[in-house]
Amino acid sequence: MAQPEDVAIGFVGAGVLGSGLALALSAAGWRVAAIASRSQSSAERAASLIDGCAVGENAQAVADACDLVFITTPDAAITEVSGAVTWQAGQGVAHCCGAASTELLATATKSGASVGAMHPFQTFAAIDGPGQAAERLHGVTFAISATGWLEEFLPNLARSLGGRGIEIPDDMRPLYHASAVLSCGYLATLLDAAVGLWTNMGFTEEDGVRAAVPLARATIEAIERQGPASAVTGPVVRGDSATLAAHLELLSRHAAHLLPLYRQLTESSLPLARSKGIEEPQLEQIRRTISVSD
Ligand SMILES: NC(=O)c1ccc[n+]([C@@H]2O[C@H](COP(=O)([O-])OP(=O)(O)OC[C@H]3O[C@@H](n4cnc5c(N)ncnc54)[C@H](OP(=O)(O)O)[C@@H]3O)[C@@H](O)[C@H]2O)c1
Repeated sequence: MAQPEDVAIGFVGAGVLGSGLALALSAAGWRVAAIASRSQSSAERAASLIDGCAVGENAQAVADACDLVFITTPDAAITEVSGAVTWQAGQGVAHCCGAASTELLATATKSGASVGAMHPFQTFAAIDGPGQAAERLHGVTFAISATGWLEEFLPNLARSLGGRGIEIPDDMRPLYHASAVLSCGYLATLLDAAVGLWTNMGFTEEDGVRAAVPLARATIEAIERQGPASAVTGPVVRGDSATLAAHLELLSRHAAHLLPLYRQLTESSLPLARSKGIEEPQLEQIRRTISVSD
């Protein structure tokens, strides 16, 4: 197994993820040797946080100085950046895009490089800098597809960050990415709906966030401890269609746009209700309640 000091790692793209991953890998003992970005100032900012890290003049300079280069530009630029570099046979090139795999690095593959996709199942929204991005990378799951020496090396990097690498077949990668969107972006959409109801009751959005976040956080913690079936609460899993009918009635008067979402979530909760022992007649009553026209 390669020792951290044996492998010079470089980054092209000193944004949220590139800076955070560079910092996290350096803190884990890896040799982050060079960073380049579109603007010199971004590269300098990231490199200044890492001992022994040089600012590369451009992507080629990083490729010339490093054994493994992460292209951490926005997804749309990965292929172009990779295509503009002369890669050496045996060199490693990777990106961190979730929806696509190593096909984005076809030109590097043609040059005989080992290629990889290493996507962290994590969000970096609303962070206050590379230090916090690096913290968020600790313990996460990375979806890894790789060729050559990166097949073993990238999971090793993930483990060194306290996380794990899992292999997702290329044709399943969009499904994996859909799971990330459900866990993160659509969770925000759901809480936006919950918070919005506080404004219907005459409170501010801030009041809603203050009320909803501790509840949501406790739910996430319960899921982490015992799984979703143990954490799910509310009228569906109590078989309580009268309360559901009252929700629908008030939603239709004050937030009718949420009715389809509320009905769909109720329907999607039925298997969990069944697993908690709710009998078929009560489940059927719930189905009838949510199928009533607005
Ligand atoms: N953000 C997330 O939550 C998240 C989560 C998982 C995976 N990812 C993945 O991480 C990768 C990077 O995303 P990000 O959110 O870190 O993006 P970002 O914050 O927008 O940073 C991208 C960086 O790349 C630089 N850049 C843009 N075009 C370039 C080019 N042609 N050549 C060199 N550098 C270029 C930018 O330029 P400047 O030098 O001008 O700053 C910027 O610093 C993407 O593949 C994304 O899918 C992101």
